[in-house]
Amino acid sequence: MRLDHVAIAVRNLDAAEEAYRSLLGLEWEGREEVAYQKVSTSIFQAGDCRVELITPTAEDSPIAAFLSKRGPGLHHICFAVDDIEAEIARLKGKGAKLLNQQPVSGVGGTRIAFLHPEDAAGVLVELVQK
Ligand code: CO
Repeated sequence: MRLDHVAIAVRNLDAAEEAYRSLLGLEWEGREEVAYQKVSTSIFQAGDCRVELITPTAEDSPIAAFLSKRGPGLHHICFAVDDIEAEIARLKGKGAKLLNQQPVSGVGGTRIAFLHPEDAAGVLVELVQK
């Protein structure tokens, strides 16, 4: 597994973007709307890994629910895998609680699945196959 990206939920995308660009000096890649998740993202490159700032674009976005419950901060970490079906099967075999029993479509034709935070020290874990 390789760390692919870290996603941070924010209320104000402009302010967060400014902090990660000007203060931390990360290389900015651009913004992307993810319509089906009702979020807008701002993406930075940090070595081989990305940092994604995510903010809701609608009241019923899952990120809006996260923000009202837990406030801004780490939302999930994502690991890239070569064979997501095999990884899901392996995790199920270990009794892990997967939020997706089958891979679902992610951005740019990727396939993703989420592992419950209970199984990863309180952090939501995304798996992606590109
Ligand atoms: Co992600």
